[in-house]
This record gives sequence, C-alpha cells and structure tokens, in this order.
Amino acid sequence: MTTILKLGGSVITEKDQPETVDEENLARTAAAIGEYVAEGGEIVVVHGGGSFGHHHAAEHGVSRADGSHDGAGLLAIHRAMGRLTDAVLDALAEEGVDPLPVRPLSAGFRAGDGTVTLAEGSVRTMLSEGFVPVLNGDVIAHAGRGGTIISGDTIVVSLAESLAADRVGLCSTVPGVLDDDGDVIDEIESFEAVASVLGASESTDVTGGMAAKVQRLLELDTPASIFDPDALAAFLETGRAGTVVR
Ligand code: IPE
Repeated sequence: MTTILKLGGSVITEKDQPETVDEENLARTAAAIGEYVAEGGEIVVVHGGGSFGHHHAAEHGVSRADGSHDGAGLLAIHRAMGRLTDAVLDALAEEGVDPLPVRPLSAGFRAGDGTVTLAEGSVRTMLSEGFVPVLNGDVIAHAGRGGTIISGDTIVVSLAESLAADRVGLCSTVPGVLDDDGDVIDEIESFEAVASVLGASESTDVTGGMAAKVQRLLELDTPASIFDPDALAAFLETGRAGTVVR
C-alpha cells in the first residue's frame, strides 16, 4: 500500500517570514511519519515551498504559468527549496526514517502542453528498497518557457497516477475545506459545488491556494484527504481525514 503525503509549505514554514522553518510543526509531522514507517508503512513525502519558495519565485517573476530563462533566478529558487528539503530530511532522519531526496528539477520536466514527467522509477525503487523518497515543490524545465514552478500538489497528482497510489493526503494549516459557516466539508465530488467557498490564499502563493488544490485532486482517481497536522496520525492510520476529495 503506497501513501503519498504532502506537507504544505505553510505547515512546515513560517509562511510570512522568509526562509524560516516551523520547527515544532516539522518535528511533529515527522514523528507521525516515523511511527507509520516503523509499523511498515510505505510513504512518499512531498513538501511545499512556504517561505522558502514563494518569496523567491515572486521575486524572480516565475510561477506555474510564467516561465523564465534567467538561470540565476531559477537557481536561487531551487537552492532555497533545497535548504527546506534538507530540514525535512533531517527531521525525518531524527525519527529513524531513511529519507532520500528526489529533486524535480533534476528528475523531471514539463512538456510544451504542460504535461509533467517525473522520475517515477527512482521513487519506486527507493520505496521498494525501504527508503522514504522526499520530493519538493521546485523549479522545473518547461519546453518553450525556460523554467516554471511545479507545486507540491502537482507532484502529488503526477506521482499518485504513475505509482497507482492507494492513499493521498495533503497536510495543510486548515482542518479541511471549510464551508461558509467554517465547518469542514466531509466530501467534495465536483468543483462547482464548492467554488463559492474557495477563496484565494492570503500569503504570497504563486501556485494558486485551496481552489487550485481541490481542482487538481478532483482529477485524481485516488481519493485525497485535506487535513491539518492534528489529523495526520489519524490519516496515516485510517487513510482518511478532514475533507475527502473524490
Ligand atoms: C511551491 O510549492 C514551490 C515553489 C514556489 C518553488 P507549493 O505550491 O506546493 O508550496 P506550498 O505548499 O503552497 O507552500
């Protein structure tokens, strides 16, 4: 059974303070993952950019759609993400996990029509050898546009399909998708049904916030849960938590 888990950038970083890790949230999410792995769970971890990615991306004018041929700018974004990946690897290693990084810039590309290809073979082989692959939202070479941003959510969707994952989880700062009364919506089956409650993300976010997240998850065959760190252990145990997008 393969689980793909995204740790949102706003969970593991202080989103409004440049390049600051939220040590407490990172440690407790790593602890939950460590417990799951100790019990024989197979998991791919993907992390977002938070204050390591979005500020740099905005500064260099790069987004999912807006490409750049400024190599120095792309490298600055990639390196910042690498610093966050290092923090994630260290936190997981502390919990007795054997994490190994798979950096999308080196292990993938986007074709001219926007289709993403990632080195699924690396991820699959790491998993079968007992490692925990860790991927990050990143800069990616994009045919015809130079480099663009690939979000953690896009990586999750791409890997869930290529690995035929059984469970997908997005650990966010909110307990799920909230309705107008602030209550968690249990299940989402179509975008139209929730479009009115999905506002834009408040902090600098070059990849689209909750609306884009839900839209991408609806495209997946695998049901995906959106939940907060308090519900991570429950998600890992049961395969669902917060809002389930089908
Ligand atoms: C963004 O990844 C990566 C970069 C800006 C380089 P995500 O879009 O997945 O990040 P979060 O989770 O929203 O912070």
